[in-house]
Amino acid sequence: MLTLGIESSCDETAASVLENGRRILSNVVASQEDVHKRYGGVVPELASRRHLENISPVVKAALGNAGIQPRELDGVAVTQGPGLVGSLLVGINYAKALCFSLNLPLVDVHHLEGHIFSVPLTLWQEPRQAEAADLKGLLPALALVVSGGHTSLFWIEGLGLGVQEEASYRLLGRTRDDAAGEAFDKVAKLLGLGYPGGAVIERLARRGDPHAVKLPIPRIDNGKLDFSFSGIKTAVLRYTQKHLSRELAVRNWVGEEAVPRSVLDLAASFQHTAIKILGKTLLEASRDYPPRSIMVSGGVACNRALRQHLQELFAERRLPVFFPTPILSTDNAAMIAAAGHPKLLKQQFADLSINADARLKLARISHQGA
Ligand code: KG4
Ligand code: ZN
Repeated sequence: MLTLGIESSCDETAASVLENGRRILSNVVASQEDVHKRYGGVVPELASRRHLENISPVVKAALGNAGIQPRELDGVAVTQGPGLVGSLLVGINYAKALCFSLNLPLVDVHHLEGHIFSVPLTLWQEPRQAEAADLKGLLPALALVVSGGHTSLFWIEGLGLGVQEEASYRLLGRTRDDAAGEAFDKVAKLLGLGYPGGAVIERLARRGDPHAVKLPIPRIDNGKLDFSFSGIKTAVLRYTQKHLSRELAVRNWVGEEAVPRSVLDLAASFQHTAIKILGKTLLEASRDYPPRSIMVSGGVACNRALRQHLQELFAERRLPVFFPTPILSTDNAAMIAAAGHPKLLKQQFADLSINADARLKLARISHQGA
């Protein structure tokens, strides 16, 4: 069974073909980093225009790389939301037109369900992994999605892989303000390091002292497993104004090699604290909801210091922590096809009248009873 995944919720136009929902035959991602870089963030109008230009060549490349013709497909999975509405619409309309013309079934996928599936998908590429087959030994799991748009923690009892099985996700907590990746991006912008900020902060942090600047770890005392990143971002801003105004006013370093020590230390201290915030809440969650594994996905999951910290934190507790490969951590369409495949099997098809939903919800917020 061949599934085409299409993803266009933010600034990546992506398409991928999966065999039986597990084996990646192709995974094409057209990044728009060059378009948005000069603005220091994603400009929605420019994003949708670029998606329009990219969608057709990206889908064709995905089919070409997989070595298949469109008529060989068995179904299409597309991201319905959440995301930028103008961006989502490009992928959805393309998917609808393709399904209409080829008489194929369409399934809609929640972007975060896609990110959650990027961990099993990584395991499935390595068939010798004993856990990989049905993932039963890994569930229930705590799944943390950390990206530029989201920081959400789910309790997962089932992924709904079997025809008789329904997926079971419960949202345990999420960020109350900025997403973790957003904090990396804003701090990088503040320090004049460009956009997006995660990877450059990670590189500079390796050369700085993570204990040089003390930054606050928020206390969330109301029993919720929520996150907050605006306090640490504001603390970085204040520190910069007070201690680094001269460095940043001059800002005459050319290239990363010339970044001054004080900026390296601040980058390292910020990264260290952001990682601690994520680890602390995951640890609390693992006490309230004892899992058999932890799955971390989204762009921030690329961060090697985060990977190492969480592996060490949970090694003591004998809990395995899984991450996607870097290419499956950031936005991609293979994860969308993987999440859509079980829905195709169960014939949970979407109507061709579906619309983009910028604020689509995946699960009820259990602790708020909403
Ligand atoms: O998942 P993604 O591609 O898009 C969203 O759905 O948001 O994540 C992009 C985010 C950006 O905020 C970027 O700065 C962050 O992931 N990111 C990182 C790293 N690589 C990407 N954050 C920390 N460390 C990294 N190495
Ligand atoms: Zn994403």
